[in-house]
Amino acid sequence: MTHLDWGLFGKTVIVTGATGAIGRAVAEGFAEVRAKVALVDLDQATCDATARSLGAEHKGYGADLRQIAQLPDLVSRIEADLGLATTLVNVAGIIVRTADLFAVTEADWDAQHDINLKALFFLTQAFARRLADTGTPGSVINYSSQGALSGGFGGSVVYNATKGAITTMTRGMARSWAPLNIRVNSIAPGLVDTPMMHTPGQTESDREVMIQQIPMKRLGLPDDHVGATVFLASDMARYMTGAMINVSGGFLMY
Ligand SMILES: NC(=O)c1ccc[n+]([C@@H]2O[C@H](COP(=O)([O-])OP(=O)(O)OC[C@H]3O[C@@H](n4cnc5c(N)ncnc54)[C@H](O)[C@@H]3O)[C@@H](O)[C@H]2O)c1
Repeated sequence: MTHLDWGLFGKTVIVTGATGAIGRAVAEGFAEVRAKVALVDLDQATCDATARSLGAEHKGYGADLRQIAQLPDLVSRIEADLGLATTLVNVAGIIVRTADLFAVTEADWDAQHDINLKALFFLTQAFARRLADTGTPGSVINYSSQGALSGGFGGSVVYNATKGAITTMTRGMARSWAPLNIRVNSIAPGLVDTPMMHTPGQTESDREVMIQQIPMKRLGLPDDHVGATVFLASDMARYMTGAMINVSGGFLMY
């Protein structure tokens, strides 16, 4: 290989949350380096439309990733359509905001853990099992958050706990699967200007307060995450596993 080689040409990449803000940008990035993208999100029609907008070699998969028993079948269908997937990017996630910690219900807890953590684990397990069975190297990129380290505050603490668990699990998966040549890394976005970040009733001055906390003095954009994600999947990151990349304009530094 050359020193600068994405090594992703013709490879199959699964992106979850692929019709959301960051997921869509990431899917576009993989299409640009000529990978075949399996776009997974809740709504089949939106997945299809997004896949079509990227080109004929990409395909949409409408799936609720909380249907754990169906995840191996999803991985099999993608393999049958696009070939064995060698990269999985786990972007799908939700936040349930509450006024404070006293307002958190069991349903809030379960909703966030079910998609952010449980679905991520079992989809990754199904994906990695195919790599292990076929002796194929691969890569997983898990979307964590800066809140994995800060803990968040008020009503976002449970969401951030799921992100902390993702970071921890990323390291454990990385250590467990290194002998199989499956690399596992995470990305920690900061404050990204997507619907997920906006709370009801947020004012322009609330937004300005957030911006002033960011050393680079602007909110993140979905596109800001593409480079780090494609890099982690590429051969250029071939000696990286168990890492967390901070994509936050310096919001937190660690
Ligand atoms: N926006 C931010 O400020 C921010 C900050 C830190 C981390 N993150 C993380 O980045 C990722 C993407 O965030 P975003 O802002 O693009 O959010 P988004 O809401 O635009 O995208 C999330 C996507 O996940 C999908 N999804 C949710 N539940 C699903 C399920 N059960 N099955 C399949 N798909 C499901 C949604 O349909 C949506 O398209 C998330 O994991 C989020 O936690 C975002």
